[in-house]
Amino acid sequence: MMEFVVTADGSKTLYHPGIGEHYHSRHGAVQESRHVFVGMGLEHSVTQSQVDSLAILEVGFGTGLNFLLSAAHCTKHGLRLNYTGIEAFPLPLDTLKQTGYDAYSTPALWTAFLSRYEESLKAPQLLDAGNQLRVIPIDIAQFASDQAYDILYFDAFAAVHQPEMWSAEILRHICQFLKPGGIFVTYAITGQLKRTMKALGFTVEKIPGAPGKREMLRAVKTP
Ligand SMILES: C[S@@+](CC[C@H](N)C(=O)[O-])C[C@H]1O[C@@H](n2cnc3c(N)ncnc32)[C@H](O)[C@@H]1O
Repeated sequence: MMEFVVTADGSKTLYHPGIGEHYHSRHGAVQESRHVFVGMGLEHSVTQSQVDSLAILEVGFGTGLNFLLSAAHCTKHGLRLNYTGIEAFPLPLDTLKQTGYDAYSTPALWTAFLSRYEESLKAPQLLDAGNQLRVIPIDIAQFASDQAYDILYFDAFAAVHQPEMWSAEILRHICQFLKPGGIFVTYAITGQLKRTMKALGFTVEKIPGAPGKREMLRAVKTP
């Protein structure tokens, strides 16, 4: 049975007893998502390329926190967002309703998210004028797409708990869906991950991590 845990910034996360890990940092779930994915990924990408729309691919959609915060950011800044989440074990709608993430979203987006979540597992859903969501209920290794993405949020469970998600084979597979110049971000950084990303043709940066983690990885696909 999964259970909710309140993290240090007051936002909730889920604990997965089978994996033995939380879905987010216990130092602050929202804080981590805002820093690692929205700040170092989305905001950085927009600063670099001055676009008005972008496509994000997330590995490990889970509760949808990274989507909700990204969508809120895009709405605020007049950006159109096309968001695809890969999730092998989609959470039930009832669980999503209990996250309390409405506090970090707008009422309209939160309502649209909950009312279209189950449909988003079958087809892309336009949640409002600017934000489209598709959650693909599939194992990462089976994911295929003819779309190319601007940003890849890699939010798998830690390598110590799920090493196969961080293998060179899986990273090579998923990174093929990033555009040249596209940005890969994740909350973790290890020597092995840096070597793998470099071997895949990425320029790797070690940058400050979210509270509780000194560093994280951002990598740019060589154009
Ligand atoms: C750290 S949690 C992600 C947290 C999520 N981003 C959120 O904000 O709630 C890792 C996620 O990866 C999913 N997952 C585990 N194995 C997977 C696989 N082989 N393919 C796709 N998703 C997987 C888990 O079900 C879980 O939702």
